[in-house]
Amino acid sequence: MAFRERALSRVYQLIEPGPVVLLTTASRGHSNVMTMSWHMMAEFEPPLIACVVSEANFSFAALHSTREAVIAIPASNLADAVVKVGNCSGRNNDKFKRFGLTPLPASQLRAPLIKECFCNLECRVADTRMVRRYNLFILQVMRAWIDPAQKDPRTLHHRGYGSFAVDGATVRMKSKMR
Ligand SMILES: Cc1cc2nc3c(=O)[nH]c(=O)nc-3n(C[C@H](O)[C@H](O)[C@H](O)COP(=O)(O)O)c2cc1C
Repeated sequence: MAFRERALSRVYQLIEPGPVVLLTTASRGHSNVMTMSWHMMAEFEPPLIACVVSEANFSFAALHSTREAVIAIPASNLADAVVKVGNCSGRNNDKFKRFGLTPLPASQLRAPLIKECFCNLECRVADTRMVRRYNLFILQVMRAWIDPAQKDPRTLHHRGYGSFAVDGATVRMKSKMR
């Protein structure tokens, strides 16, 4: 069977690194949230996460200047809010209110946790050397919070143009990788 070529502009849809997350920031007393799917783990401990945040986003300046953010992981029941948050800007908009998300105080940061998400990671920017070139921030997770009431949450995975895969079955294999 012959392969068909895939446009380079659509490669990102194949290499989907992880769950779609919400990134919160707070700057000048104003909290904001954006949707983010371009991220990857970069170290076990302390946990480092590489994130691409476009400079066109309002969140970019807040992240760059305050050097802190929360990565909140939504389960699939929040899909509607997640997509809407990612399709508008917080520049003139309170996205928490508008899309029914509840900001909660974090322990170490001004950026808020999101009550409805099953996991919240309090992060500080650890490295900005690749920001100018790639809009790529390295975040260090300082505290990690899990909602024990959300059992077996199913994460969302972005496939582009409004298409998402929902996390499915778990398979158990013998593996030395921790
Ligand atoms: C599913 C999805 C994934 C997204 N992933 C990213 C991403 O990884 N990086 C990014 O800069 N923007 C991403 N966006 C776009 C931002 O969420 C969007 O521009 C957002 O409205 C920016 O908000 P702000 O201007 O309030 O910061 C994504 C949007 C969606 C819907």
